[in-house]
Amino acid sequence: MFFDLPLPEIEETEIGMLHFMMSRAVFIYTFGCQMNVHDSEKMLGILSQEGYERAESAEDADLIIFNTCAIREKAEQKFYSQLGRAKALKRKQRDVKIAVAGCVAQESKAKIFARAPHVDFIIGPQNVHMIGDLVAGRNRASLTDDNRELASLDVASSRQSRIKAWVSVMYGCNNFCSYCIVPYTRGREVSRPSSSIVAEIRALAEEGYREVTLLGQNVNSYRSDLDFPQLLGRIDSLGVGRIRFVTSHPRDLSDELISAVAELPGVCEHIHLPIQSGSDRILSLMNRGYSYAQYLRKIEKIRQKMPEAGITADVIAGFPGETAQDHEATVRALREVEFDGIFAFQYSPRRGTKAAEMEGRVPDPEKSARLAEILKVQEEMTLRRNRALEGTIQEILIEGPSETDSSLLMGRTRSNKIVTIEDAGEAEGSVVSVRIERARLHSLAGARIDCEGLV
Ligand code: SAH
Ligand code: SF4
Ligand code: F3S
Repeated sequence: MFFDLPLPEIEETEIGMLHFMMSRAVFIYTFGCQMNVHDSEKMLGILSQEGYERAESAEDADLIIFNTCAIREKAEQKFYSQLGRAKALKRKQRDVKIAVAGCVAQESKAKIFARAPHVDFIIGPQNVHMIGDLVAGRNRASLTDDNRELASLDVASSRQSRIKAWVSVMYGCNNFCSYCIVPYTRGREVSRPSSSIVAEIRALAEEGYREVTLLGQNVNSYRSDLDFPQLLGRIDSLGVGRIRFVTSHPRDLSDELISAVAELPGVCEHIHLPIQSGSDRILSLMNRGYSYAQYLRKIEKIRQKMPEAGITADVIAGFPGETAQDHEATVRALREVEFDGIFAFQYSPRRGTKAAEMEGRVPDPEKSARLAEILKVQEEMTLRRNRALEGTIQEILIEGPSETDSSLLMGRTRSNKIVTIEDAGEAEGSVVSVRIERARLHSLAGARIDCEGLV
């Protein structure tokens, strides 16, 4: 009975006024991987429901959030130098609130709170959905508990793009590669129920999104009522043109997944399959769970079924104990596999990980020399793979103007290569057939194939 009583008029007005007065602006600095970028979209989505608008710059904001990354020391340092600048800003605008989110927040909350008195809130990656409650409080507070509820929560993200969307399918990582901090910051693996993934993607299709990228540290170990290949099958029929996913772990890349990518019309033929090293000894020290020969076998299977698939990887240079021979094995692997592209990094010791305690640290100049060689050999391979596409017909999804030349449009092939074409006014999100005219290192120059009757 009590709940049937209408609210008194006066309270409604008060609520309305309160809401109006609370209209605020938020600015988010985002560092790190796609998961972090998507977490920022989620936080923006939640905060916009709480009456926040997006600020143009940190100077215009009432709330500044640093969504941080701890994967390598450099990423962490970038955040600390930005945080230093925010201190000066807070001196000028005392009302501005500062929040630190992401993987550094999770790892170093005590340190941040102790050393940065201008930080008001700390929130870990497993708590992003609680950002609204956190910033509504007046006192300094932190939320960094392992939160398994996360998987069952649906959050209305404020997405950057109207064409391409990220969708979380699982959180956390159980792999404990010996160099990596992610299992400590993102917690154990939790898969999101397939029904809520499907509902989100169906809504995205209705809003006109043309591509979704399914996100997880190791999507192959997705498990709910469906496994990952089954999930792809379920999503394929929902009407978003293109489906991508990152990241696959080589140990768990199954034949079923390779078949699903090959057979499902919406799933794009691109697999990001981090190799990390070409040396079995180093792979074992890294706790990666595969040998180079096993890795190569997976690549062969992918190429047998999908000769045109794009294959990319991550590589680490200068892992502890890596000898010149181990490094040579990595360089040989790059030549043998011929990746379409790689992300390569110098090994960076991370506090609390096994590798940080290992002997045989490679000196910095040696690490950077090895990284330079890796990048040089890969450039040769990337160019070779790109040149092989000259003269072929590709279907590209237009994303907008090219970043390097605004008179051109930029799109991606299904294999995830960037193609530029003359701007003939195609809208973002349209699919265009092009002939690849010229291969470059970072992109391909294409020409649209005109329809019959058109000049
Ligand atoms: N879950 C994904 C990505 C993890 S982070 C995967 O397993 O592939 C992205 C990349 O960062 C890793 O693939 C690895 O190459 C690199 N990386 C992680 N920890 C690192 C460290 N301590 N030093 C240097 N590179 C690192
Ligand atoms: Fe890190 Fe390994 Fe997990 Fe990737 S699979 S997030 S590299 S621990
Ligand atoms: Fe960085 Fe955390 Fe992603 S450490 S790479 S933001 S999972």
